Amino acid sequence: TTRILTGITTTGTPHLGNYAGAIRPAIVASRAADADSFYFLADYHALIKCDDPARIQRSRLEIAATWLACGLDVNKATFYRQSDIPEIPELCWLLTCVAGKGLLNRAHAYKASVDKNVEQGEDPDAGITMGLFSYPVLMAADILMFNAHKVPVGRDQIQHVEMARDIGQRFNHLFGQGKELFTLPEAVIEEEVATLPGLDGRKMSKSYDNTIPLFGSAKQLKDAIARIVTDSKLPGEAKDPDSSHLFTLYQAFSTPAQQAEFRAELLAGLAWGEAKNRLFQLLDNELGEARERYHTLIEQPADLEDILLAGAAKARKTATPFLNELREAVGLRSFK
Ligand code: TYM
Repeated sequence: TTRILTGITTTGTPHLGNYAGAIRPAIVASRAADADSFYFLADYHALIKCDDPARIQRSRLEIAATWLACGLDVNKATFYRQSDIPEIPELCWLLTCVAGKGLLNRAHAYKASVDKNVEQGEDPDAGITMGLFSYPVLMAADILMFNAHKVPVGRDQIQHVEMARDIGQRFNHLFGQGKELFTLPEAVIEEEVATLPGLDGRKMSKSYDNTIPLFGSAKQLKDAIARIVTDSKLPGEAKDPDSSHLFTLYQAFSTPAQQAEFRAELLAGLAWGEAKNRLFQLLDNELGEARERYHTLIEQPADLEDILLAGAAKARKTATPFLNELREAVGLRSFK
């Protein structure tokens, strides 16, 4: 079997980037006959960026409903909340003790914060918590806990998966006595959607406020699409599909035949307003049914809760004995 694992941080409303970069490929992969998938809500990670409990709870509900609405089969996959698995923070400590500080100094998310502080003439560490600095170690614990082979993610997470590999390798070397305690994971990236652009052409991201929510109403979808930045070419003038992020968004949700047709129309001078209409129709078609399921699911938080608790129990069947093995390997008492 191939073990596949991925998570989403519970700090906001899922957007098209999360869907195309992680959720859609993960669900497709989970349907393979030999797939054993572990998908989770990264709510410990959420604490790193967010100190608003209500927002974390709301986001968790939204992300859980999203996975199910998008067709995740929770009887086949293991679907859980990170914070329901106490083995994860414990493994995180074991890994913290072998993770190099120099390695973590190079993590993009941490470095970007340092660079920003320096640029603004502030103390380099201003506002930076140990949570942010150690973020990749917690993510390594998520991945290594379940010995995932494949981790479907967007491009922004590749470095973290590589760090999980490095940390796992070091742990194997120190404590494995010639045996591979941890499977070394690999990021799985879909090139075309690895960095889905947002409304302004930068990476679609909550922190840039340029997202298209996955399950907003048809009106919200239309309004978001209206805000997509285009060049100032007039109706009738040829548009260059390859420099248009509107086209990139279209591409991420269409068949090759639809893409070829849209490309030809843009080259032939389709008005941007009409092009936006086409994108709206496309997304509304692709997401409409799932959106309805989503709105039903989100009204049933107690059912979602049951699903998550059952998922956690299933995940811990793997995590509990494995953590005991790891405790013994490093010289701690096993809980057995
Ligand atoms: P997060 O919550 O920021 O994003 C969730 C997933 O969505 C992908 N993504 C994108 N993909 C393509 N284009 C975009 N514009 C875009 N924006 C976001 C992200 O790459 C990610 O795959 N640290 C992780 C959560 C996490 C995790 C893990 C992932 C915690 N532990 C273990 C995998 C394995 C995060 O914050 O993703």
